[in-house]
Amino acid sequence: MISFLNIATLFYNLKALKMKSVLITGANRSIGLEITKQLSKKGLFVYLGSRNLEKGNAVVKELNENGYENIKAIEIDSTKPDTILAAKKIIESEQGKLDILINNAGVSGIYPESTSEASITGIQEVFDTNFFGVISVTQTFLELLKKSDSARISNITSGLGSLTLHSDPNWKYYNFKATSYVTSKAALNAFTIILAFELKDLNFKVNAIDPGYTATDFNHHSGPCTVENAASFIIKHTLTADDAATGRFYSNDIEDETEVSPW
Ligand SMILES: NC(=O)c1ccc[n+]([C@@H]2O[C@H](COP(=O)([O-])OP(=O)(O)OC[C@H]3O[C@@H](n4cnc5c(N)ncnc54)[C@H](OP(=O)(O)O)[C@@H]3O)[C@@H](O)[C@H]2O)c1
Repeated sequence: MISFLNIATLFYNLKALKMKSVLITGANRSIGLEITKQLSKKGLFVYLGSRNLEKGNAVVKELNENGYENIKAIEIDSTKPDTILAAKKIIESEQGKLDILINNAGVSGIYPESTSEASITGIQEVFDTNFFGVISVTQTFLELLKKSDSARISNITSGLGSLTLHSDPNWKYYNFKATSYVTSKAALNAFTIILAFELKDLNFKVNAIDPGYTATDFNHHSGPCTVENAASFIIKHTLTADDAATGRFYSNDIEDETEVSPW
């Protein structure tokens, strides 16, 4: 006998299947959380990545109470392959595909951090999330993304990952030379270019997006940009048309109408 609960679950699954789905890593707070809110309002089905599922579920409950729908918390720690694989299995069973991956989870490391004194362990820890974690999540979800008829991968980088800008003494952040963070985002940028190249003949857009210097826990709320503005910038360069560019580096800190940053 089909119970009311079964019918409700079936209805929920059918509705979810018709919507575009997005996975956002590190979405339980700050910029990732705001991307979740804005994409939910745009009618996407959002998997809110959280390395602590309890925290993720509590955030989703609060979002639902405030009118944000079609969001599900999913445990994913980008440094733990077992959680990434388990998340993939859940999304595969519920959606059969994934349309958008936003690799947002990131750590700052310490600042200031001189290159001559930076500890190898400290650099490795930052790379584990900002670089290897992104590769690991992306590789695991590529199979599901290839099942989308229009896939997007947005790697959330930083202007601090630009080698060109770091070489310019007139750049406003020229003095922000934190070794671990800068090198991890520069490496992420290189990964983005190479991945975009590999997927260029498929219906994929792979871009690196810098939300701009934003007030979050990340920088003790020192940035001038708001999470609302940072998230809408990321979304603008993620929900792009099929004839849009791939392999670009967009930055919210670039004062140019193209919003394209030098690598
Ligand atoms: N804020 C800025 O000014 C700024 C500027 C340029 C670029 N960015 C980039 O924007 C992204 C988001 O930054 P934010 O300011 O929102 O940072 P945040 O306030 O520190 O939040 C970081 C999020 O990432 C999660 N996270 C950290 N390590 C993780 C891991 N290994 N696996 C899964 N999740 C993990 C955190 O989870 P927990 O809650 O469990 O710690 C949290 O949800 C980062 O990639 C950052 O580099 C930020």
